Amino acid sequence: MECTDRQPYDIIRDILTVIEELNTLKDVDAILDRVLGEARAMTNADAGSIFLVEGDQLRFSYVHNDTLFHGADASKHLYTNFSVPINEKSIVGYAAMTGESLVIDDAYALSGKEPYSFNKKYDEETGYRTRSMLTIPLKTFQDKIVGVMQLINARDCNNEYRPFGKDDIHYAPLFANSASVTVERGIMTREIMLRMMKMAEMRDPKETGPHVQRVGAYVAEIYQHMSRKKGLDEFSIRRNKDVLRLAAMLHDVGKVGISDTILKKPGRFEPHEAAIMKWHSVYGAALFANTTSELDQLCAQIALGHHERWDGKGYPGRLPENLAEARELCVEPISGEDIPLCARITSLADVYDALISSRVYKDAWPEEAVLEEIMKGRGTQFDPDVVDAFVEIQDVIRAIRHKYQG
Ligand SMILES: [Fe+2]
Ligand SMILES: [Fe+2]
Repeated sequence: MECTDRQPYDIIRDILTVIEELNTLKDVDAILDRVLGEARAMTNADAGSIFLVEGDQLRFSYVHNDTLFHGADASKHLYTNFSVPINEKSIVGYAAMTGESLVIDDAYALSGKEPYSFNKKYDEETGYRTRSMLTIPLKTFQDKIVGVMQLINARDCNNEYRPFGKDDIHYAPLFANSASVTVERGIMTREIMLRMMKMAEMRDPKETGPHVQRVGAYVAEIYQHMSRKKGLDEFSIRRNKDVLRLAAMLHDVGKVGISDTILKKPGRFEPHEAAIMKWHSVYGAALFANTTSELDQLCAQIALGHHERWDGKGYPGRLPENLAEARELCVEPISGEDIPLCARITSLADVYDALISSRVYKDAWPEEAVLEEIMKGRGTQFDPDVVDAFVEIQDVIRAIRHKYQG
């Protein structure tokens, strides 16, 4: 902001435009990414992070860092798992507790009189040098604090570090306040999805909350990596990644339509039971049929196609347009690119997670054996491009696994 002398009218107009765009996003991670990106662009900040309130803690939820994060591995930093208590001891905790923004010119030169102190651990681990900080509570219009955004190392026109200036301190919180409502909505959407999943989980104990969180995140990251390789524009990637993650989380929601005697049966299914189980793909798709929203369409494609195979030996195969008319599965196989990409990615993510996690009826496989198994399925069970992308982002995949344990 210190680089250009834009008029307040222009700044406010830009803020409103961004808020309007934010309202079209559904997934909380996509919202946080956009909010942080805009706040950093407004203040020309090198880095930033967002913490979300969870009970009496602040959970580290999103991060950007232009200096440190590069290449295909950059996403792994998003899956760092830690929380800080909401109290006066940390800078973000203080901002959440008091509801006030904090402006710090140099994190290493605090007077010592403040109740909070700067935690150097992150800098020491990464070699980063935090200087100026602008810490803003994310407050909704009802004065509810949903999180804290921290902008780090503002730069001037020559890319030299500078303290945050008058305009930054005025406009960034204004933007943060308006964006908080969207963040709160994103959190609610995610919670509703998780509740839908809980419902499915109560029916099928194999389909746990952490499993669907992991599958959603794997799918989003594999998709992003594949799309970047293909040169798709970043804006489209972000939008698609947003809905894709939510839709992938609901891949098995159709299991609510399968009877308890089959679903909760310990041990192996008899052939006729396995045949009934296959219908969960159709039931899931039927839940989202006849809708026009992009999210619902993706949910339907993923629910229907996540057990299809690249070689056409999966299920349920091609079905009548009106799913209610489907009487038989696997009559006409569907293979290769006829299977929607979102379903091809989910298929791999779901199988990978099932193998690498322990479940009531099986131990977790060692990572090497799982990767070998996935490679074996390259071009038969799985789309070769999806397998390649998955292998290339193993660091990110591992970070996701560690974030959503259980
Ligand atoms: Fe399934
Ligand atoms: Fe699953």
